[in-house]
Amino acid sequence: MKRNFLKLTDLTKDEITALLRRAIDLKAGKDANLCPLIGRNIGLFFEKPSTRTRVSFEAGIYQLGGNAICMTPSELQLNRGETIADTARTLSRYLNAIMMRTFSHETLEAFAMHSSIPVINGLSDLRHPCQALADAMTLLEKKGTFEGLKLAYVGDGNNVCNSLIEAAAVLGFNLTIACPEGFEPHSAILEEARATSRGEIIVLRDPREAAGMADAIYTDVWVSMGQEKDAEDKKKRLKDYQINAKLLECSKKDVVVLHCLPAHRGEEITDGVLDGPHSVVFDQAENRLHTQKALLEMLLSDRQ
Ligand code: CP
Ligand code: NVA
Repeated sequence: MKRNFLKLTDLTKDEITALLRRAIDLKAGKDANLCPLIGRNIGLFFEKPSTRTRVSFEAGIYQLGGNAICMTPSELQLNRGETIADTARTLSRYLNAIMMRTFSHETLEAFAMHSSIPVINGLSDLRHPCQALADAMTLLEKKGTFEGLKLAYVGDGNNVCNSLIEAAAVLGFNLTIACPEGFEPHSAILEEARATSRGEIIVLRDPREAAGMADAIYTDVWVSMGQEKDAEDKKKRLKDYQINAKLLECSKKDVVVLHCLPAHRGEEITDGVLDGPHSVVFDQAENRLHTQKALLEMLLSDRQ
C-alpha cells in the first residue's frame, strides 16, 4: 500500500516518534553511507516559490542516493490543459514518489487520488506538514521533551499554524495561539486536534497572554503566498502580533524562538529577535533536511 503524507496525521504517533529519532541519528551522521534511494526518482513539483523545501529535498534525495526531478506547472502539459488526474497517472509510471507544493490543498488530494506513488505535501494553502516535522525535531532538540512543553504561536492562523496544531495533538505538547478575530486557524483541524490531544490547544487574542511562561514562541509571515491582494489589510490587522523583545519578556528566560522562514523582518518579527540569542530558526531550517530524509526512508522503505 502506498503511503501519502498530505497531513501530519497521515503518520501515527509511533511513526512520527520513530521518524524524529531517525532524523536525530541522521543529523549525527549515523548511516551516512546508507543509500536507500539508489535507482529511485523523486519528483519535486512547485506551483509557488521555495528556498528551504526545494533545496533540502533535493540535497536530501541526493544524500540518500536518489535522483530529484524538479518541475513547475508552466513546464508541463498542465499548462496547456492536461488534467491533474492524467498527470498523476503518467508521473506515477516514472517516479517512485513526488513532493508537491500547491496553492490549493484540493489539487494535492486530487493528485494523490490518481497517483500510485506516495505524495508528500510540501505546503498547500491548508497545511505544511514537512515544516511541522522539522519544528517538532527542533523543539525536541532544544527542550528535550514534549511532556509539559508550552509553545505559543503568535500571528496568522495559517497553513503552518494548522500543521503545528496537528503536531501538538499527536505529540502531546501544549499550544496557545494568539491571533486577531478573523485570523483563527482552520476550525475543523482545531476541533479534531482538540478531540484527540493530550495537551491543551487554546486560541486567544492577547499575544502577551500566549507568550506567558512559554518555552517556545513561533511566528510566520502575515501574508502567505497567494494572499498578496489582502496584504495591506492583513498587515494592519496583525500589527500588534509582532515577536519583539518586549513580548519575549513575558515568556520563560530560556525561551526559544521559531520561525519557518522566510521572515518579513520588521513585520511579524524584529531583527533583534530573529538574530538574537533565543532564535533557533536556522537549526529549524536545517532540520527540514534531516526530517525529510527520515520521511522518504519511511515512505519508500518497502517499495521498489
Ligand atoms: N519554510 C519553508 O517552507 O520555506 P520555503 O518556502 O523556502 O520552502
Ligand atoms: N505561511 C507561509 C509559509 C511559507 C513557508 C506561506 O504559505 O507562504
